[in-house]
Amino acid sequence: MELTVHTSEPYRIIIERGCLGRAGGYAAKRFRPGSRTVIVADSNVAPLYAKQISRSLKEAGFSAGTFVFPAGEESKRLSSIEKIYGAFARNRLTRSDFAVALGGGVTGDMAGFAAATWLRGIPFVQIPTSLLAQIDSSIGGKTGVDVPEGKNLVGAFHQPSLVLIDPDTLQTLPPRFFSDGMGEAIKHGCIKSRPLFDFIKTSDVRTDMERLIAENLKIKRAAVEQDEFDNGERMLLNFGHTFGHALEKLHGYRGLSHGQAVGIGMVIMAQCGEKAGLTEPGTAAEIASVLQRYGLPVSDKEITDPRPIIETAMLDKKALGGTVRLVMLKKIGESFLYPADKKRLTELLEAVL
Ligand SMILES: NC(=O)c1ccc[n+]([C@@H]2O[C@H](COP(=O)([O-])OP(=O)(O)OC[C@H]3O[C@@H](n4cnc5c(N)ncnc54)[C@H](O)[C@@H]3O)[C@@H](O)[C@H]2O)c1
Repeated sequence: MELTVHTSEPYRIIIERGCLGRAGGYAAKRFRPGSRTVIVADSNVAPLYAKQISRSLKEAGFSAGTFVFPAGEESKRLSSIEKIYGAFARNRLTRSDFAVALGGGVTGDMAGFAAATWLRGIPFVQIPTSLLAQIDSSIGGKTGVDVPEGKNLVGAFHQPSLVLIDPDTLQTLPPRFFSDGMGEAIKHGCIKSRPLFDFIKTSDVRTDMERLIAENLKIKRAAVEQDEFDNGERMLLNFGHTFGHALEKLHGYRGLSHGQAVGIGMVIMAQCGEKAGLTEPGTAAEIASVLQRYGLPVSDKEITDPRPIIETAMLDKKALGGTVRLVMLKKIGESFLYPADKKRLTELLEAVL
C-alpha cells in the first residue's frame, strides 16, 4: 500500500510487510546512485534490523554507515545530536546524501533534527519500527530534542523524503509500547473518524495492521497537509495532550508513559465536555472502555487537586496570552478547538475531579 503526503515537497509512504529488506530499492528511486547514508538506530532496534537495511542499501549501490545510541527518551538530548553529527562527518555526508532514522519516535525525532541542521539540511528517510512512529511521528516533519526546561522544546520542521513502514517489525515491539501506540490510534479515531474508532473497538487490529496504520496515517496526513507548520487544524491532534502532558510532568516523566497519560487526558477532556454540554453524553465512558481493551489506564487516582494540572497546562507551549486552546469532542469522530482562560479551565476541571 502506498500514500503520498502533499507538503511543500511531497513524499511517499510505503506500508508493506517485508519492505525493510527492500529499503535499497526504494531509496534508489529517490536518491542518486553512489550516495552515502548513516543509519541512526537505538541499542534495541539496531541489533534487530540495521544489518538487513544496510545490506539492502549497499546492494542498491549506496554506502551505509551506522550510528547506535542507548535506547530511551533520556537519549533525546542535544549531546546525542552532536554524536550523530560526528557520525555524519565520519561518513562524509553532503547535501546530496541522506540520513536514515530506523526506530521509534525518539530515533525519528533525533535523526530528523540532525538531518534538518547538518549542513543546514540534508534529506532523511524514516523507517519507523514502533507503533507510535508508524501511525504518527514518522510523518509530519516535527523533529527535535528535549532540554532540561521541557520536552520537545528545541526542534525544526523537516519533512522526510521517504517513509518505509514494515508492520512485521511490530512483532518484536514490547507490549507496553504497543499499548502506547494504540492510545494515539484511539485519539485519531476520536478526533476525526468514527469508523476508525469502531474498527479499533470491535476488531483484533493485530490481524490487519496495514489497515490500522494506513487509516491512522490518512488522518495525520490530512492534518499535516492542511497545516504543515502547526498553526491551526493540526492542533486537533493534541486531543488529550493538555491534561496528558500535565499528568506526565506531575509524575516526573516516570510514573506514566506518554500514551497512558494522553489516554487519561482524553477521558478527562471528554468528561469536561459532557459536563459543559459540549460533548455527546456517554463519550467519555466509550473512550475509557476502548482504552481498557488495549491495556491503558483511564484515570489517575493520585490526582485529586485540579490546581497543579491547571498551572502546568497554562505553561503549555501552545497556550497563547493566558488562553489555552483545548481540543474538545462534539462526539466521537468530530473535534473542535475551545479556547479557555484559567478561570474557565478551573470550572471545567473542578466539575469532574
Ligand atoms: N515528531 C512527532 O510528530 C512526534 C509525535 C508523537 C511522539 N513523538 C515523540 O516520539 C517519542 C516516543 O516514541 P516511541 O514510543 O516510539 O519511543 P521510542 O523511540 O523510545 O521507542 C519505544 C521503545 O521501543 C523500542 N522499539 C522500537 N521499535 C521496536 C521494535 N520494532 N522492536 C523492539 N523494540 C522496539 C525502542 O528501542 C524503545 O525502547 C517521544 O520522544 C515523543 O516526543 C514525536
